[in-house]
Amino acid sequence: MTAIFTRRSVRDFLDKPVEPEKLERVLRAAFEAPSAHNRRPWEFLVLTDQKDREAVAGMSPWAKMCLRAPVVLAACVDLRKGDPDYEASSAAGLVGADAAAGEDIFWIQDISAAVENVLLQIAGEGLGGVWLGWYPGRSRVRAFMDAFGLPPYIVPAALVALGYPAKETHPKDRFDPAKVHYGRYGAPGTA
Ligand SMILES: Cc1cc2nc3c(=O)[nH]c(=O)nc-3n(C[C@H](O)[C@H](O)[C@H](O)COP(=O)(O)O)c2cc1C
Repeated sequence: MTAIFTRRSVRDFLDKPVEPEKLERVLRAAFEAPSAHNRRPWEFLVLTDQKDREAVAGMSPWAKMCLRAPVVLAACVDLRKGDPDYEASSAAGLVGADAAAGEDIFWIQDISAAVENVLLQIAGEGLGGVWLGWYPGRSRVRAFMDAFGLPPYIVPAALVALGYPAKETHPKDRFDPAKVHYGRYGAPGTA
């Protein structure tokens, strides 16, 4: 799949809006991701307003590109779907992301699969984007939830800033056979 091998993070964007049909395909790609027990615990908040993007850029030193990206997409998790223990945890007084601990908690993996699909579809559309880790940074998560009115069970797990790339990226082959183990860790082997 070409996009896997050509995608690279893009942090500088042209002053050009993303067409709604492209944005919809990017979102559709997210919904096709695999998820544990097919829970599909995701929800997405799409931010295009300059003031909103400025607010996000102010929440993390690593999110400054949100000022220039025409779209910031927040990949959120509904803990009521992603965490089977959520109600019990809530009853015990744990709320929001603090409640997200347990043996059947796969929502981080679920949302990560969705975010990767988003990045690949972005690349496939001729757009560029970058994954911004949001959870588990407590102050980032709290600031985002407060700014955009998220209820306590919706966790902003990751953000993706996207738009048209301002410059080309030059992917290099990163495959490292020394980090692949066959049968036993450290055993010599070939594919
Ligand atoms: C969980 C996660 C969190 C990340 N957070 C940030 C971030 O806050 N800011 C940023 O500029 N890039 C962020 N990145 C992008 C990485 O820096 C980037 O993927 C990495 O340097 C590899 O480069 P590539 O995406 O071009 O292959 C994040 C990536 C992941 C997977």
